[in-house]
Amino acid sequence: MESSITVPELVAAKGNRRLVMVTATDEPSGRLADLAGVDIVLVGDSLAMASLGRPDTLSVTLDEMIHHTRAAAAGVKRALLAADMPFGSYQTSVADAVRSAVRLVAEGGARAVKLEGPRPDETRAIAAAGIPVIGHLGLTPQSVHRIGGYRVQGRDREQALELLEHARILEQAGAFLLVLEAVPAPVGAAVTRAVGIPTVGIGAGPECDGQVLVFADLVGLSEPPLPRFVRRYAEVGTVILNALEAFTEDVRAGRYPAEAECYATPPGLAEALGVARERS
Ligand code: KIV
Repeated sequence: MESSITVPELVAAKGNRRLVMVTATDEPSGRLADLAGVDIVLVGDSLAMASLGRPDTLSVTLDEMIHHTRAAAAGVKRALLAADMPFGSYQTSVADAVRSAVRLVAEGGARAVKLEGPRPDETRAIAAAGIPVIGHLGLTPQSVHRIGGYRVQGRDREQALELLEHARILEQAGAFLLVLEAVPAPVGAAVTRAVGIPTVGIGAGPECDGQVLVFADLVGLSEPPLPRFVRRYAEVGTVILNALEAFTEDVRAGRYPAEAECYATPPGLAEALGVARERS
């Protein structure tokens, strides 16, 4: 069996090869992302919107994240499996942050955790507990109410410089990778050059050390409107809808199941039950 990708390998990739991260919510999405050869599978809290039909990421619980992480872990053999720390699982205290991270690893099977915003104390404490930490800067959806919507961040010099400072602080605190979401491409490039750890962008331009997309956006399962950075690589939602419509029509028309889709009938059984069909 091919060996699993390690955190030191991901850090060493900076400047050598581009990293690929994809989100997953369950065994099939984890397995397919892993088979495709991505480096990191992230069970993102975006699953609240992508899979649970919630309006934002704020209501997804730690138990729900653990549940989905375990499911994805069943399919991921090679990629590094990371899990998002959901809203409320690390904002209350550093001790809570460590406890939540430990649960995602011990119960969910994650090999790393991600937390949003400049959280150096939590990052340091989780890393000290032996758990690799991914930082997340730029648009941080768990702060949607403070930000005032899902807006591009770092648009003026002051904001961009603050973001650079936060990136350096998280690196010093022990984060091994940074996700940069929804910032102008020059900000993505500047952060990438300012830190020694890899950056993975989502709407952060081409100069990040890697790119991430949400599985449902990438394969065509999510509903528009979609963020500007999304590229659809398939329209799987349409394929599934066509299949379900065809099944519905076949059942209603008596075309499903056909004889080949029924179990073999022992001789005389249909007659004994009085349901023998006339040969046509
Ligand atoms: O939750 C998520 O899907 C994320 C990605 C935007 C990286 O954090």
